[in-house]
Amino acid sequence: MKNSVSLKQAMQYISENKSKVNSKYRLKFHLMGECGWINDPNGFIFFNGVYHCFFQYNPFKPFWGPTYWGHAVSKDLVKWEHLPVALAPDEEYDRDGCFSGSAIEIDGKLYIMYTGHIEDGAGNYYQRQCIAWSIDGIKFEKYFRNPVIDKNNIPQEASKRDFRDPKVFQKGDFYYAVIASQSKEGKGQILLYRSRDLLKWEYVNTIVRNENIVEGDIWECPDLFELEEKDVLLFSVQQKEGDKIIRSEAFYCVGKMDFEKGVFKINSYEKLDWGKYFYAPQTTMDEKGRRLMIAWMDNWNCPFPTQEGHNWAGALTLPRELYLKNSRLIMEPVREIKNYRKDEISIERIINDETIYLNFEAECIDVEIDLVFMPKAEFEISIFSKNLLSNSVKIWYESVYNKLKFIINDLVFNNEIQEVDIFPLEDKISLRFLLDKSSIEIFVNKGEKVLTNRIYPLEKYDMLSISSKGKCEVKLRKWDLDL
Ligand code: FRU
Repeated sequence: MKNSVSLKQAMQYISENKSKVNSKYRLKFHLMGECGWINDPNGFIFFNGVYHCFFQYNPFKPFWGPTYWGHAVSKDLVKWEHLPVALAPDEEYDRDGCFSGSAIEIDGKLYIMYTGHIEDGAGNYYQRQCIAWSIDGIKFEKYFRNPVIDKNNIPQEASKRDFRDPKVFQKGDFYYAVIASQSKEGKGQILLYRSRDLLKWEYVNTIVRNENIVEGDIWECPDLFELEEKDVLLFSVQQKEGDKIIRSEAFYCVGKMDFEKGVFKINSYEKLDWGKYFYAPQTTMDEKGRRLMIAWMDNWNCPFPTQEGHNWAGALTLPRELYLKNSRLIMEPVREIKNYRKDEISIERIINDETIYLNFEAECIDVEIDLVFMPKAEFEISIFSKNLLSNSVKIWYESVYNKLKFIINDLVFNNEIQEVDIFPLEDKISLRFLLDKSSIEIFVNKGEKVLTNRIYPLEKYDMLSISSKGKCEVKLRKWDLDL
């Protein structure tokens, strides 16, 4: 195995600097880098009895830079332990970044397929697909004949520059990889390749093009999997105006994949998450048969206040379990988080033009609220700090428009409103939210819609209130999360 100087430097830098991160907004049950910058989750897999999650990593600065693959493992998807950095951009073919990719287990070995990114200094770049493997799941060796998919194996009608983020999986006699691409007209599309040994690859087809659905210059980080006898395709849309990224959003399509023809027939599509902070999701199937998804809990055009003076930036979501209901994706936080619940408080009341207050000391809480409201009644849920009322997160429902609204006021946001359409059955809404120190993930109606957000309160939130105009039946259960 090559003795990588860059890997050693990264490890040394991390061990000398990890204690220097500012803990104010450090999360408790979300994966972050020990210091520096992280973006996409990579190589999410259950291997050798534990969950592995790699991530795009620049340990040296809280800003994006030529990426390494950071690495962490978890027994329960809630608590993560960092392992040595897995890949460094230390070869000619990946010298400007080991970009995103995925993992697969074959005969007890862990294989990684990732993108080698190189720049020529004159504004041009190239991306090619590479392989690395490991016996113990910790130390990785890059294939000596990398790249395994080179420029000459990219179809005519696709960009030679934007060609990245292979998601590899097995189906029948073949390994397949879906890869992010851009058409000659500058639109996002997804390519399909196949191989019998992960080393020699043949191009099958362009499985989807973005002409008829969302705009975007590139559809990054594709993922394709079967769920309850349907095929689901995930991708993350990036759109630029000049050098500025103006759109950074994840979508999913439900449809039918024809592997022979290499065509994905889209039956429906929708935004994956309705919050501001969700990008580059990746899934895996675990040994319990669950389809799990984890994502970057930030994106390319959101603010990163911890870049100044905190020495870290970027985090991943709590993994979610995926299901389908009437061809729509349902997302639930992994059930393991419930093992950390303690000190349940439960309230069941009918409120009428009044407010319920609930104090909390814990840094992390899990709250379930079921509401039944009488016609025309309105409710508002608020999370805030008693010492600084100007900072808060508020959620309310506008029945006239069928919109659930969400507003943040804190270090970053000043009355930032987000909204999502929901159609409550029998005037019932259920909400579950998981609050960590600088994040809130809200699951609406048992995961039919999810809003993921980073929050940066100037004072720790310690109060929850529910108020109503008109009559509202409230059932609330709140737990501290003991992490
Ligand atoms: C998505 C992405 C990927 C790329 C990686 C680079 O967030 O742009 O397409 O591989 O980040 O860090």
